[in-house]
Amino acid sequence: MLNIAVMISGSGSNLQSLIDGCKDDINGNIKVVISDNKEAYGLTRARENKIKAVYEKDEKKIIEILKNENIDLIVLAGYLKIISEEFVNEFKDKIINIHPSLIPSFCGKGYYGKIVHQKVLEYGAKITGATVHFVDEMADNGPIIIQEAVYVEDTDTVDTLQKRVLHVEHKIIKKAVKLFCDKKVEIRGRRVLINE
Ligand code: GRF
Repeated sequence: MLNIAVMISGSGSNLQSLIDGCKDDINGNIKVVISDNKEAYGLTRARENKIKAVYEKDEKKIIEILKNENIDLIVLAGYLKIISEEFVNEFKDKIINIHPSLIPSFCGKGYYGKIVHQKVLEYGAKITGATVHFVDEMADNGPIIIQEAVYVEDTDTVDTLQKRVLHVEHKIIKKAVKLFCDKKVEIRGRRVLINE
């Protein structure tokens, strides 16, 4: 059973998917939820599930908390703050992130939340989706674990597209964490092999 930490800045619907998954078939235990936003609804979700919920903006203190909790996997689930190279090196190959597009499209600095879907629609892309990837020192850049596509409908608005992509996010974030906890994920350079 691995110790998991989830870092959030907002609603925490991906966090909720992991909370449900850990009650189901994920071989892991969410020890702590950390947010850089005191008002994040995700902190309420954590408290309602008797998970330690921490509001902390200072990265050094966050690293301390994660070490004290013997964390094996850190999940960035709608965490908007860019983490430092020091943080990445402290937890090498133990940090994953979910991004609401098919990386390398519509990602990187400034691409987060609704802005991503806005850019997809403005560009006229026909397919978008979601990506779970390992985190390295560059935003949305690390080796990809899982991706799933979502077709863009002619009638889509930012909200309707975000809703369908979030649905896929909730599914692939659970799958990625389950595979990691079952030790079925292997990083080979830029590629990730899934030993199912
Ligand atoms: C998700 O779309 C995630 O991909 C992005 O931020 C959003 C967070 O949603 N990084 P939630 O807080 O998990 O509901």
